[in-house]
Formats: sequence, C-alpha cells, structure tokens
Amino acid sequence: MCGIVGYIGSRSAAQICLEGLHRLEYRGYDSAGIAVVRDGELDVRKVVGKLLNMDASLAETPLPGTIGIGHTRWATHGKPSLDNSHPHVSMNGRIAVVHNGIIENYGELREQLKAEGYEFKSQTDTEVMAHLTQKYYEGTPGAPGDLRAAVVRAVQDLRGAFAFGIICADNPDQLVAVRRFSPLVVGLGEGENYIASDMGAIRKETDKVYVIDDDEVALITREGVELTDLDGNPLQREAFVIPWPADAAEKGGHKKFMHKEIHEQPDAMRACLAGRLSDPDQPLVLEGMNLTPDEIRGLHKVVFTACGTAYHAGLVGRFLMEYLAKIPAECDLAAELRARNPVVLDDTLCVPISQSGETADTLVALRDMKDKGSKCVSVLNVVDSSIARESDGVVYIQAGPEIGVASTKAFSLQVMTMTLMAIHFAEVRGTADPALLRELKAALLEMPRHAEELLKREDDVLAVAQKFYQLDDSLFLGRGVNLPSAMEGALKLKEISYIHAEGYSAGEMKHGPIALVCPELFTVAVAVHGDVYEKMIGNIQEIKARSGPVIGLIDDGDSLMGEQCDAAIWVPQVPEMVSPLTTAIPLQLLAYHMADLRGEDIDQPRNLAKTVTVE
Ligand code: F6R
Repeated sequence: MCGIVGYIGSRSAAQICLEGLHRLEYRGYDSAGIAVVRDGELDVRKVVGKLLNMDASLAETPLPGTIGIGHTRWATHGKPSLDNSHPHVSMNGRIAVVHNGIIENYGELREQLKAEGYEFKSQTDTEVMAHLTQKYYEGTPGAPGDLRAAVVRAVQDLRGAFAFGIICADNPDQLVAVRRFSPLVVGLGEGENYIASDMGAIRKETDKVYVIDDDEVALITREGVELTDLDGNPLQREAFVIPWPADAAEKGGHKKFMHKEIHEQPDAMRACLAGRLSDPDQPLVLEGMNLTPDEIRGLHKVVFTACGTAYHAGLVGRFLMEYLAKIPAECDLAAELRARNPVVLDDTLCVPISQSGETADTLVALRDMKDKGSKCVSVLNVVDSSIARESDGVVYIQAGPEIGVASTKAFSLQVMTMTLMAIHFAEVRGTADPALLRELKAALLEMPRHAEELLKREDDVLAVAQKFYQLDDSLFLGRGVNLPSAMEGALKLKEISYIHAEGYSAGEMKHGPIALVCPELFTVAVAVHGDVYEKMIGNIQEIKARSGPVIGLIDDGDSLMGEQCDAAIWVPQVPEMVSPLTTAIPLQLLAYHMADLRGEDIDQPRNLAKTVTVE
C-alpha cells in the first residue's frame, strides 16, 4: 500500500523522506514522489518504478529544503505514471498533498471542482484534495491563508479513508496532517518533527510518536505539534514510545527480511509465552482480553475473522476452540463476513486476527460485528494499530516488526496465541481433560527449542527445494488441525515463487483435484501423527499410484510414511493439536528456497503489499 513520510526541521527534508520511504518499500509500491518548499516555491520530484530511481535522481540533482513530504504509491485510481504519483499539487502550484487511502466520492468532487474552473492533471482521487485545499485556503470564511483551517474544511467534503500530509509554499514553517481510517503517526524530535504512515519509517529518527486518531488534525512546526479535532478543540496526547530498537527492522545479516523473520521464530515464541505460561501445572494467564471468567463461561459462539495468512491462523483457532473449549466456532474471511450479514446471537465473541492491525477488510468486519452486538477481542501484532483501538480487548502476539511481505513469524505466533487462548478458555470452562491441557502446555513450552531444531535442518529443506523448484504446479494437502497448515504452505509458495499452489483438504482429493495429479505436479502432504494419520497414508498412495511426486512432512523416525514419499521433510513429533507450529517452519523455508532458486524478489513479490488498507 502507499507510504507517507514528512519532515520539518533544519536538515534535508528530501533525504529524510527518502530514507523513510526506503523503510516502507516492503509494503509494495509502483512510483514515488517528494515535494519540498524552498525559497517560497514548491519543488516536486517524481519517479515511476523503484525508489532506486529516486536515489539516482536526487544524487544527480538534489532537492534542497527543510520541510517536505514524500510518498510511495500503490496504484488504486489510474495506472502508475508520473502524473498519477504523489505529491499532487493544487492548480495554483502552491499546495502539495500526499495521501493514503481512497476518497470514495472523488468522482462527484472532481466534477464540482471542474465546474468551478479547476483543471486535473491526474486520474487519481487524491488530486481533488489538493484543489479543495487551495479553494478553502483562498476562501475559508474568516481564515483565508490558514492552511490548517483549509485542510479541516476540505476533509469535511470527503467520504472514504485518508491520511494526508500537506505543505504550502506560502508557509515553510507548517506541515499539516489529518486522518480518517488510514494509519498516521507524528514523530517527535528536537527542533524537528516528522509524519509517517508507519512508525517503522521514522523509527531511526525518533522513538516517540503521537498516534493520530480518526478525524484528528496535527499542525506540525519545527518547535512542536498541536493536535485538535475537526472542530478545533485542542487534544492532549501522551507520546507513545515505540517498543522496538531502531535496528529491529534491519536485515541483520540475512539475505532477505523473510529469511530473517523465519529465523526469529524461536525468540519470538519465547516472547509470546513470557508472562503467560511458564509451568504446565499452573493455569495460563492471558491479559488484555478484557473478559471476565463468567463471560468466558457464558460464551455461545466464537467467530474468528481475518485475511490471508491470518485467516489460516484463524482456522487453527476455530479448530482448537471447538476441540478444547467446546464452544461452537466459525472462521470467516473478513471480506466475506460482512457480505453474508451474519446472525449474531447473544454471547458471541468475535476474534479479528491481524499482523498489521490496519487491514481494511478486517477492520470493517470488526466494526460490523460490534454493531451487531458482539464483543471483539483481537489478536494483533502492531501495538496501538487501528484494530487495536477499536477492539474491546487485545491479545498481542509479540512478534516484533514483520517487514517481509510474506508473513511468517506472525503466522506462527498467531497460531501460538490462539492455542493459548483455547487452552485458557478450556481451563476457565472446565471443558477439557486436565491431563491433555497439561500435555499441550508442556509442548508449547518446548516449542522454541523445536523451532531452533527445525531451523538447524534448513539445508535438508533446501535439498528438497532443489529437487522440485522447476515444476510449475503443486498441491498442498492436510487434514484436521493441519488443513490450515497446508493452505498456508500453498499461499506462502505461490505468493513469493509464483509457482501455482493449491491448499486442499486431503479428503477433497477424490472430489476433483486428483484430476491434476501427474509427474509435473508435486504434492506436499502434511502427514504427521494424529487422528487423521492413516487417512493421509491412503491419500498419498492414491497420488503415488498416479505417478505424482510427493513431499511428505513427516514426524522424526516415521519410516513407514517416509517410504511412501519421494522426499521427506522431518519434524520433531509433538501432540497433534500443537503440530501446526512445527509444520509451519519447514513450509516457510520450502517456499523461501524455491522462490530464491527461481531468482524471485522475495521481500517484494509482484502485485502484493504488506498492509492492505483498502477493501
Ligand atoms: C501473506 C500475507 C497476507 C496477510 C493478509 C492480512 O503472506 O501476509 O495474506 O496475512 O494481508 O494481513 P494482516 O495480518 O496484517 O491483517
């Protein structure tokens, strides 16, 4: 999605914006631009394609100025082009605007502005904001020439989602920012301040930010920041201290962020368990949910909702919630939950799951479930994100920043957090055999060590990848609690290697997908021990009988299953209900190495964005 960075201070605004935009590169973009004010004029530079083009352009011709705004664009209205990239400039050339989000009524505003004589250079929705701001800057009753007043007036005409950063050539001492439904923070420095759509963009410069809320406006000068609502009422805000170090988002010696993040899983698992579970003989503690024991006992239904990888984690959550806590559970794709207008009975708990906490579909699903009377306890990674702020309770997965577009450590920790939640609910409700719960808690405590062991076996996964990476089609099969593992394995592979991959229940094989089986399609079968083990053997034999090559994800020492498969990826044996945690890591490594062998851009796969802030 688009990224915003802005700066006001005494250093080169263009350089600071550029560095910040580089830190947002992982989110995906197709063009970029920077505007500064210098000598009473706006100076705007735009490039199409990678930010390297902006590096080269600024190296050749610098853009001096100590106030500026920058943007990376991911096209929504109008193709990637210089005209469509931000910043967009008002017709009089005095006001520059960067924008994240979508202005839903831009068509009608565009027509109105055209009728008033404004000319448009781009096909974007954003350009209406540049012209509207000019219109109100020139003519706000009682306050012509007041940039903040003009911005506030202009956003009152808008419907949709936005985070704006706005500067004006007439006033090199003011940067104005405002948001509705799109993330925005103001970074606080000494004699200098920043704006960004993502804290990571400015973390190197400062660890203190104001998190801006919907319909709040920030007037930012070198000396300070004034926050108000749209009626001009001053707002007091505690600065939020970003809880991770400045280098947390750097690659740390790994070739790719995705690789680094796969390898961070043992430590991240320890962080996720810390303070919640330390002794299998004690009940676990899960703070932040804001649910009383009576509320947990009284639940009649749990609805998990999420997108993509987080949805797969939700499917594990659904399975465990029914299996352990004996609560009827559903898991819906967030984009579909609202579409089907679900019936929400009393005592329904909704659990939105999101790494970023900014995914628009998940946010909309949360609002819809709240409107229907459901309490919402979210499972999130990014602290103080939009979903966090609208939830009744939040359980954080404690993964630290995830930069690679393909989600890896967040998936494992979402699964771990949901396992904790299901065990906790089962303990409170008394619905599961205490011996089973003890066994699962002990297995969770062992999980960081298993993750370390799995990472030590990376070369074995690489060897399997080398054998199959040239094939263009694949099936990922699983059953029961490991059906989501298969679906997630397929998603991981397709999104970074572009190998066609389908995640399926092995039980569905005979109902269609078996028609695809042939020597040119490889199957990855998640075939660890558990209730569905024997059925998996049957499915693998059916594929072998049709000359389909099979890669088995198999428990250590399981020679029976090993003999069935063309290649084996061995995992330590753990209780079935926590096995999605051990199967995830090798599937992530398999996708990573296949994509790497094919020479793909793993951290920035084509067409994908890390945070999807539009529906
Ligand atoms: C895939 C991936 C996406 C996200 C999805 C939801 O690797 O990362 O499928 O899982 O866009 O994102 P969050 O978790 O931020 O809501």
